Amino acid sequence: MTIPFIDLQAQYRALQPQIQDRINRVLEHGQYIMGPEVLELEQKLESFTGSRHCITVASGTEALLISLMALGIKPGDEVITTPFTFVATAEVIVLLGAKPVFVDVESDTCNIDARLIEAKITPRTRAIVPVSLYGQPAHMDEINRIATRHGNIPVIEDAAQSFGAIYKDKRSCNLSTIGCTSFFPSKPLGCYGDGGAIFTNDDALAKAMREIRVHGQSQRYVHSRVGVGGRMDTIQCAIVLAKLERFELEIEQRLKIGARYNDLCDSTGIQRVVQRDDRTSVFAQYTVKVSDRESIQQHLRTHDIPTVVHYPVPLNLQPAYRHLCCPDCTPVAASLADRVMSLPFSADLNATHQERIVRTLKKYRLPRFKLRLQQKARARS
Ligand SMILES: Cc1ncc(COP(=O)(O)O)c(C=O)c1O
Repeated sequence: MTIPFIDLQAQYRALQPQIQDRINRVLEHGQYIMGPEVLELEQKLESFTGSRHCITVASGTEALLISLMALGIKPGDEVITTPFTFVATAEVIVLLGAKPVFVDVESDTCNIDARLIEAKITPRTRAIVPVSLYGQPAHMDEINRIATRHGNIPVIEDAAQSFGAIYKDKRSCNLSTIGCTSFFPSKPLGCYGDGGAIFTNDDALAKAMREIRVHGQSQRYVHSRVGVGGRMDTIQCAIVLAKLERFELEIEQRLKIGARYNDLCDSTGIQRVVQRDDRTSVFAQYTVKVSDRESIQQHLRTHDIPTVVHYPVPLNLQPAYRHLCCPDCTPVAASLADRVMSLPFSADLNATHQERIVRTLKKYRLPRFKLRLQQKARARS
């Protein structure tokens, strides 16, 4: 029996009456754009994260774009970020004519290495965008300290994968100037289409971001600034509201499943992404590090175990971005891109399946000729 990579159906079954009731209510009142569920969700997410403002938007990508627009990022500006992330993080910077400046990552957590940021700050640096990868917040205190020291550079946490995670008693999304998340269906809190949200404690930025979300409109048909069509549909907000009822329980389940995977990997010698003590990851992905990845993926596939690579190529090596950065300036990200592999994970993954996944992974044997090549390479070095 194939183990699903993410089991959205099990989650749907657990919440079916609430989700259907929420959708039906929207169908009955008919306010598909900016209906009452939009404000209700924003208020609930403000109290969940502790942020003063939540602005729901059309996607995680739109959340990042609107945030950068509100900060006035323009051609010639530089924005510091990580190359080891989903493309949207850098894409929005380039869309505004600015330059992403890639900083290498930590080999254990795969998050941006805060110690390397300061050396990349120039008079043109206008923002820092760390990503809380795989569900684990980046080292936000250190990043905020650096940003403050250099004239209060705004920090945007790309928390598309980490909604619900905790860093030193505070929720991800409420750890810096702005936090952006995604409600893409496979995220820890997902809708059934595209959706996202922006968080901030800054009143002026919140006002700007609300306007940018609706074509820069400050009053009906008064377009005070350039904006985008970036609203989140009422139905998607209604779905997130229903899922929010089970979210705390799902976070607990995710933590248990993550801890069980850690134990299984550690006891069998499988290398994995490390979680730091001051952070609670929500395990958007459970990621291990392997050599000979393609053959291992094939081996797991033949045992009905799907895997996904997040991410096979760092952004500074992607065709559309490589002219922006020297190819070997982020060696840790390059090495991780060759080795990372995410295992099936969802809040409803059971212990039997987890044990089967790790046991099957452990059983993989390197073909003899590859073993000999490895031994020779080791002997040479
Ligand atoms: C780190 C990161 N940033 C941004 C995004 C973009 O979010 P969305 O797909 O909702 O536009 C994603 C989504 O995969 C992501 O993982």
